This record gives sequence, structure tokens and C-alpha cells, in this order.
Amino acid sequence: MNHCRRWIFRKNSTSYDLVANSCAAPEPGDLQPHECLLAIRAVSLNYRDRINWRNLAGRNVEGIVPTSDGAGEILAVGSSVTEFKPGDRVSANFFPTWKSGKFDLRYHQADLGGNLDGMLRDFAVLAESSLVKIPDGWSFAQAATLPCAAVTAWVSLVRRGNLQAGQTVCVLGTGGVSIFALQFAKLLGAEVVVTSSDDQKLQRAIALGADYGVNYRTTPEWSKSVWSWTNGQGVDHVIEVGGPGTLEQSMKAVAAEGHIALIGVLTGFGAPAASLFPLLARNVRLNGIYVGSREDFQSMVQFLNEHRLTPQIDRIFRYEQTPEAFEYLESASHFGKIVIEL
Ligand SMILES: NC(=O)c1ccc[n+]([C@@H]2O[C@H](COP(=O)([O-])OP(=O)(O)OC[C@H]3O[C@@H](n4cnc5c(N)ncnc54)[C@H](OP(=O)(O)O)[C@@H]3O)[C@@H](O)[C@H]2O)c1
Repeated sequence: MNHCRRWIFRKNSTSYDLVANSCAAPEPGDLQPHECLLAIRAVSLNYRDRINWRNLAGRNVEGIVPTSDGAGEILAVGSSVTEFKPGDRVSANFFPTWKSGKFDLRYHQADLGGNLDGMLRDFAVLAESSLVKIPDGWSFAQAATLPCAAVTAWVSLVRRGNLQAGQTVCVLGTGGVSIFALQFAKLLGAEVVVTSSDDQKLQRAIALGADYGVNYRTTPEWSKSVWSWTNGQGVDHVIEVGGPGTLEQSMKAVAAEGHIALIGVLTGFGAPAASLFPLLARNVRLNGIYVGSREDFQSMVQFLNEHRLTPQIDRIFRYEQTPEAFEYLESASHFGKIVIEL
């Protein structure tokens, strides 16, 4: 019998340990009619994996395989599968049951690497309706960066944000979501300002196409700098990944009738200390974003097949180095994405 290597979360006194483990590999003969058997080749890490690992959201992930994001190859398909065949190169949607249309709160009950086993394992069995073909010519490592960070950036700017060429975008920090947002925004004809705690990362962002950078550590009131950069107009879109500790500056940086995509909790889950009045005063559109549907993922892949975008992979770790990869994520030294190859 084949074995399936996997990492799992194991509860310790305060949070979770990452434990290497194995189980019997799924067999093609056991597939339900609409299921596909995948060999996972690469996964990528998101800040959310740190949240689960360090128990920052009080979520029970005991025994769960981490990471929503992976890419691999289809080994076998069930009898009713029509969209895929063995050999196809695929990834899976963050919410396997959110196919298209409006979000439903029930989708939270099934998220990869949260309530459901994620991708940090040799094999996975997933419904065909959750899978998405990866962009043409992309490696598995590259494609593994897409499901959470890239789809979130795409939905924030395109479906929910309705970004137009010539508009301005402010992305906070240089992590996975923000660097994809920078890359999408540039391809869509926007001007982009990036904030970072690190001048070298700002230089990298500018080399990647950013029009302007501000160090939020040395310039805590970075909104003033963004405001001047827009000639006193404010930015049309803010990719708000910081949460309570950054919202005040984001509200001060946004234009009248601008858009804030409320995405992240890098500064915690608490309430913002700042008054929310600027949102009213500026007639701001505030969109809560939680990744996207399979249809969003597919429309993003179509865009990636039509435009040249190279995902920014900071480092690739081997499967055995998984704990090191999580520690590297926690150090926040990365620019863009961290990948683990299986
Ligand atoms: N709602 C959703 O659908 C969704 C989806 C994906 C992610 N998220 C959330 O979005 C956030 C980002 O996720 P990610 O995976 O892209 O994270 P990540 O790759 O781990 O991003 C880390 C980077 O964030 C930046 N950062 C940290 N604190 C900051 C602050 N106070 N101001 C500005 N930038 C700051 C730092 O950039 P520098 O080193 O350049 O300073 C850091 O390197 C997380 O809170 C995550 O949970 C939400």
C-alpha cells in the first residue's frame, strides 16, 4: 500500500506543533463519481497559516493538514468527472464549495487548511467542482502561490473594486496579497504606492513596477506622504491587510468616493482605536473581502494566461523543512510568497 506523507497540526499547551505524519494513500478505486485524485507538488504559505499554527484566532485545527494553497497533477478521476483528466495540472479553490455567485456563510464550514485538510500532503481527493486549471506554462511552485493571496488581490481590485486604468492604489506591506495586488494593479494600468517597514523591500517593489514607496516604520503617518503623492486627492483603492493598527492611516490616505478593501489582520483582531467617521465624511466604499469563488479564480487564471505576470516567490523550502518555512513566514522577512515543494 502506498503512503501519503503529510504534516498535521497537533495541539500543545497554547497553540499547535507541526508534526510529520503519514496515512494510507487514497486509491483511484475509492473515488466518488465527481472526485479527482491529485498528487500535490507544491504548496504556498499565507499569514493565515501562521494564525492557525500560533492559535491567534482560537480556532480548533487539531489533526488538520495545513495550507489552503497547493498545486499538483491529477492522477485519476471518478466516473462522472468531465472537466479534468489524468495529467491535468490543477489547483483548488480556498473554499471548495464556493463555485460562483454570492458568498454564503456556510462556505466557512469548509475551507482548506482550516476546517478541511489542506494541501501539505502527497495526495488529496477533491471534488472536480473545486478545481481550477493552473495558468499555461506555470510551474507547480508558481501556481501554488495563487489560491489565497492572488485570488484575494484579484477580487479586491477587480470584481469588488472595479479598478479602472489611471486610478491609484495603495498596497500595505510587501507580503503575498500586497505584491499580487501591486502586480495586478500595474497590469490594469493603475499607479501604485507601496508601504513597507524595509527600504530594501521598497526598492524591490519599485523594480517590480511600483510608482512610489513609503517606509511605514520611519514614517508612521505615511498617509501624509501618500496624500502628497496623489496631489491632495487620496488613493482610489487601499489594499488594507493591516487591520486595526493601520486602518486610521488607510482612512486618511483614501480619496473621496475611494475604496478600501478590508482584508487582513496583520496588526491583530481587536477594534480600531480610530474614529470611523472619515469613512462617512469621504463617502468611502468599504468592502470586506474573504478570498473568492472558483469562478473568481478561473477569471483570474484567464487574465494570467493573457498577461505576463511572474509570481514573486521569495524562497522555496523542501517538504522536510516545513517547520523552518513556517518560522520564515513568522519572521516576515519575505517579499511576496513562500513555497514548499513536495
Ligand atoms: N480576507 C482574505 O481573504 C485574506 C486573504 C489573504 C490574506 N488575508 C490576510 O491579509 C493579511 C496579509 O496576508 P499575507 O498572507 O499577504 O501576509 P504575509 O505575506 O505574511 O505579509 C507579511 C507582510 O505584511 C506586512 N506588514 C506587517 N505589518 C504591517 C503593518 N503594520 N503595516 C503594513 N504592512 C505590514 C510586512 O511587510 P513589510 O515587511 O514590507 O513591512 C510583512 O512582511 C493577513 O492578515 C491575512 O490574514 C486575508
